[in-house]
Amino acid sequence: MEKFVISGGKPLKGTVHISGAKNAAVAVLPAVLLSDEPCTIENLPNISDVSTILQTMSALGAKVKLINKSTVEIDPRNVRSYVVTKQMAEGMRASSYFMGALLGRMKHSRVAPPGGCDFGVRPIDQHIKGFEALGAKVTIENGMVDAKADELRGSSIYLDVVSVGATINIMLAAVKVKGLTVIENAAREPHIVDLANFLNSMGADIMGAGTGMIKIRGVDYLKGADYSIIPDQIEAGTYMVAAAATMGDVLINNVTPKHLESIAAKLREMGALVEEFEEAVRVKMSSRPRKCNVKTMPHPGFPTDMQPQIATILAVAEGTSIVTEGVWDSRFRYVEQLTLMGADIQVDGKMAVITGVDALSPAPVKAVDLRAGAAMLIAGMMAEGVTEIEEIDHIDRGYEEVVEKFTALGADIKRVYYDENAGALKRA
Ligand code: EPZ
Repeated sequence: MEKFVISGGKPLKGTVHISGAKNAAVAVLPAVLLSDEPCTIENLPNISDVSTILQTMSALGAKVKLINKSTVEIDPRNVRSYVVTKQMAEGMRASSYFMGALLGRMKHSRVAPPGGCDFGVRPIDQHIKGFEALGAKVTIENGMVDAKADELRGSSIYLDVVSVGATINIMLAAVKVKGLTVIENAAREPHIVDLANFLNSMGADIMGAGTGMIKIRGVDYLKGADYSIIPDQIEAGTYMVAAAATMGDVLINNVTPKHLESIAAKLREMGALVEEFEEAVRVKMSSRPRKCNVKTMPHPGFPTDMQPQIATILAVAEGTSIVTEGVWDSRFRYVEQLTLMGADIQVDGKMAVITGVDALSPAPVKAVDLRAGAAMLIAGMMAEGVTEIEEIDHIDRGYEEVVEKFTALGADIKRVYYDENAGALKRA
């Protein structure tokens, strides 16, 4: 087992380079299955969710060649299998994208229900509604979601909830079907635009990605493409909050500042200096943060994937802040961990009332999910003394070289291997 041991209380200073976006990579890679030629994907983050997707693609029959740690060449021409087993799917939400990609490629997909972070119920009814509108018959057999069609046809689909996953899955399934597909009330996240750009660079005809209405005119053939994934909005946002929370001064490089506007706005409200450059943002904090209220919403609102991190800095703000979760039913499981570190947070349904305390204190805590884990890292760096974080595999799913990047900014974080049974500690 591994854990992080953090000696906190040091302001972060310096420059950090942001990796490619996890949530774009996990959509673009399955989309390669729709290509009629090999593709090269660059700027992939070196994280376990990407490795899991690549392993799944190999198991389906694709030839996957790693060129370097962020570039991969994939030849999907020999893919014959349409089955993604439970073993391949568990632990990763994005495995659901194989439903749309394989349905689009082979008119048949059988995929185990996706795993990923536990936010209470994570339904896929809108994905299924989309596949059915395109003409697929969807059944659940032996715990597998089976989608099959003799012929798929373009259709109009109104999403009852703004869903990133359903928007992506319907795009994947529709890109090569006959006729026009219209997705109304579509999600507008940057990774949806990135997926559309990738598919269009192969010859797809997708318009409107980034707006609430996406139009997809089916094409017969997709040629190979060389494509570079966009920078990770949430990784960048995590370093922005970490810089402010530790009273630091950090230049966050290789970002798209436009994707970070809602996060920058909240940090400014708290009193941080946030400067925007062409491909970088600088965050500097010189005084105790001021309270502010945050409500998460689909893009361009404040991202739910930044909710635990922003709540962590607000835990030491002057005054009482209210954080409202507007996307997931249950995304406050990390609050119990922050409370162990002295935070004063009361959760009532989808709302957390955060009364700022003077400082957090170190404690043994757990990463209950990916972004909760990022929040624990920030809390550990804020608290003077030694904080240990367990269950860090969640963090490795989404943050490339997190120890190296924070260490380069002056943090003291060690990844420690330990034998649970022997209780022995050995530093990596
Ligand atoms: C994506 O999850 C992201 N994952 C999540 O990021 C992110 O939290 C979420 O979008 C919202 O931004 C990936 O991109 C791989 P949704 P997804 O479908 O697609 C409801 C991270 O930390 N809903 O947009 O699974 C659902 O219950 C991860 O990187 C339905 O009701 O999220 C939720 O309340 C965690 N029916 C809301 O919609 C459906 O069929 C948004 O979910 C689908 C969703």
